[in-house]
Amino acid sequence: MIKPFYLDLTFDEIEDIKHKTGEILESGHLILGEYTKEFEKEFSKYIGTEYAISLNTCTSALEILFVLNRSKGKKIAVQSNTNFATVAAIIRSGATPVFMDMDPDYFVPSLDNLKDIVDRHSDVFGVAWVHIGGIIHPEFFDIIKFCKENDLFLVEDCAHAHGSQLRGIKAGNFADGGAFSFFPTKVMTTMEGGMITTNNHDHYKLAMSYRNQGKRGGDYGGLHTDLGNSWRINEISAYMGLVQLKKLDKMINNRQIAVDEISKFLVENNIDFCSTSHMDQCAQYKFIIKLPDENNIESIKENFRNDGIILGGGVYDVPCHIQPVFKDYVIAKEDLRNSEKYCPKQICLPITSGTTQSDIRTMIQAIDKHILR
Ligand SMILES: Cc1ncc(COP(=O)(O)O)c(C=O)c1O
Repeated sequence: MIKPFYLDLTFDEIEDIKHKTGEILESGHLILGEYTKEFEKEFSKYIGTEYAISLNTCTSALEILFVLNRSKGKKIAVQSNTNFATVAAIIRSGATPVFMDMDPDYFVPSLDNLKDIVDRHSDVFGVAWVHIGGIIHPEFFDIIKFCKENDLFLVEDCAHAHGSQLRGIKAGNFADGGAFSFFPTKVMTTMEGGMITTNNHDHYKLAMSYRNQGKRGGDYGGLHTDLGNSWRINEISAYMGLVQLKKLDKMINNRQIAVDEISKFLVENNIDFCSTSHMDQCAQYKFIIKLPDENNIESIKENFRNDGIILGGGVYDVPCHIQPVFKDYVIAKEDLRNSEKYCPKQICLPITSGTTQSDIRTMIQAIDKHILR
């Protein structure tokens, strides 16, 4: 069975984590210890930012970033094609989301999509940008320039984009903070976990406080000064993060090998997909194939399943402006035509760092049998 998730740990790595877990438990130092600090140091080094702050989830990382960028009472532009968490974090920070449409070539907004929302809502204060599937839009440098010229902060949701890089810069190091997820299905995992990356010293200090019930003390003690939360990572997860980070580029490379081989077949057969060839490196969290129509998606999924291939969730089958929980926040619904048209017409192949040559052949055969014919 080819599944969309793969826990990429060797026998030796699992033995090492088991041994370290014993040590951590025996020490009684379960949070905010040496592995948390080490994971933050190594992650910031990898992304290229001055600072990294580890947390329990990406959702809390996003909420902290919106709070630190003073979003309360403001409008924040966000693509409708994202996970619930991006939009929920905006709302929980006291802001209102205004939904942007997307560029169907990359499933993220283009510069024109951003300009369009800013034209319609001149009071937009900041932007939440999600590198869907790990894809950094080719216009991203112009998008950042536009944000700077218009005094808009830009927070990157990098939940899909560990190691994604465009013209020498890694996702999470482009603008006013990055938020990463280490949920089990992600490109690297700590079971549950998240990380903020930033070059802003004040934000770094405050994020350390916000994740720890608002305590600003250097030893994590002191008075509750900020309205933070209990959003710490634990030491076992942090250690697992160190093990995963060491092999992140290798894991991405394994995903890329599968993407390259399958892309070749898709190009030869005129099947449309989201290309990442403009990037230095793409996390390849989701490989998005665009189908001509949505009517037979369920039967395609079933046919793949019968051939032993479980297709993962799309990104995203239902855009956020259509999700019931956000119905009170939908403004300018008519601007979201690409999200409505293309989101229901995509499938994501179950490519992981554990994908084998035999898996690749099986997936290509299934595309040939169930999509081409
Ligand atoms: C784009 C995006 N942002 C944020 C999140 C939230 O991540 P977490 O589960 O670590 O809070 C997810 C999780 O799936 C996601 O896909």
